[in-house]
Amino acid sequence: MANSMRYSYSIVLLSLLVIILGALITSSEAQDPSQLSLDYYLKTCPKAQEIVRAEMECAVREDPRNAAKIIRLHFHDCFVQGCDGSVLLDDTATLIGEKQADQNVNSLKGFEVVDKIKEKLEAECPGIVSCADLVAIAARDATILVGGPYWDVPVGRMDSKTASLEAANTDIPAPQQGLVTLISKFWAKGLSATDMVALVGSHTIGVSRCVNFRDRIYGDFELTTNNDPSSAAYLSKLKETCPQDGGDDNISPMDYITPTTFDNAFFETLIKGEGLLNSDQEMYSSMLGYQTADLVTKWWADTGSFFKQFSDSMVKMGNITNPDGGEVRKNCRFVNT
Ligand code: HEM
Ligand SMILES: *[C@@H]1O[C@H](CO)[C@@H](O)[C@H](O)[C@H]1NC(C)=O
Repeated sequence: MANSMRYSYSIVLLSLLVIILGALITSSEAQDPSQLSLDYYLKTCPKAQEIVRAEMECAVREDPRNAAKIIRLHFHDCFVQGCDGSVLLDDTATLIGEKQADQNVNSLKGFEVVDKIKEKLEAECPGIVSCADLVAIAARDATILVGGPYWDVPVGRMDSKTASLEAANTDIPAPQQGLVTLISKFWAKGLSATDMVALVGSHTIGVSRCVNFRDRIYGDFELTTNNDPSSAAYLSKLKETCPQDGGDDNISPMDYITPTTFDNAFFETLIKGEGLLNSDQEMYSSMLGYQTADLVTKWWADTGSFFKQFSDSMVKMGNITNPDGGEVRKNCRFVNT
C-alpha cells in the first residue's frame, strides 16, 4: 500500500518534471527569433542584399546626407524595444509611434528612403524581408558608400506590432547629457563605453540643428579650444549659422573637416575642442573620461582600428532584438492588418 502510493507519487513528480523541462525548452525556443544569421534570406530572397544596395547607391548619390539619416535611424530603432522597426511606425488612431519623441521629432529622417527600398523588396519577394533587417542592411551600405568599412549583417529580425514613445523619450541619449549618463544609457542596452565612442564616431557624417548645439557654442566651446585662432574663426561661423535667438533648424556638419566622408576626422575635431555637440566633446574632455579620451586619441591616429571597432559595435547594436518577436510588415509605417 505505502509502496504503491510512493510509486504513483514518483510518477506524478516525474511527469511534472518532464512538463516543466519541456516548458523551459520550448520557452527558450520561443525566444529564438532573436537568433540572427547571415544566410536567413539565402533561399527565400537571395536578391535582398543586392536590392538594398542598389537603392542605397541611388539615395546616397542623390544626397550624401541620406547615408547619415539611415545610420541614425538604425540607432534610434535599436535603442527602443530592440531593432524591430518600431521607429518606422506612423502614429495612427490605434497606435502611438516614436516619431514625436524628443530626439526624433523634426530631426529623424530617411523614412522615404526606407519606403522606397521596401517597395522594391516587396516586388521581388513579398512578405519576406523585415523592415528592421532592411534598415540594418541599409545602414551598413550607407557606411560603405561614404567611405566607411564593410561588415556582414546578421539578419532574421522581426518587425514589432507595437512602439514605445515613452521608451524613446527615456532611452535615446540626448546631446545635453553628461558622460556618465551617456555611458549608462549604452550599458542599459548591453553596449560598453568603447562601443559608444566607436558608434558616436558616425558623427563623422551628418549634421546637427542649431537647437542642439546653441548651448555649446554660447557656453564652454571657447574653454575647450585653448584659444586657437582657427577654432575662434570656426566658432564665429557657427554663431552666424546659429544665432542666440531663432534659427533653431539651421544645420551645421558635426565633422566640418570632411562632412560627407566616413573617416576619423571627427575625432580630430574633439581633440581640438571643436566638438559641435556637448555630448561629443564630453567623450574627450570630461574629467571622468580618461578611458573614452584614450579611445578618441587612438582612433584619431589609426583609422583601421576605428573601422574595425565600428563594424563590431554596429553588429553588436544590431544584435539587440525584441524578445516579443513580431511579423514581417508589408508597409514599414503600419503593422499588418
Ligand atoms: C552619445 C550618444 C548620442 C547622442 C547624444 C547623439 C546626438 C545626436 C544629435 C543631437 C544629432 C543631431 C540631430 C538634429 O539636430 O536633428 C545627431 C545626429 C546624428 N547621429 Fe547621433 N547621437 C549619439 C549617438 C549616435 C550613434 C550611436 C549613432 C549611430 C550609430 C549616431 C548617428 C548619428 C548620425 C549619422 C547623425 C546625422 C543625422 C543626419 O544628418 O540626419 N549618433 N546625433
Ligand atoms: C551577433 O549575433 C550573431 C547571431 O546571433 C552572433 O553570431 C554574433 O556573435 C553576435 N555578435 C556580437 C558582436 O554580439
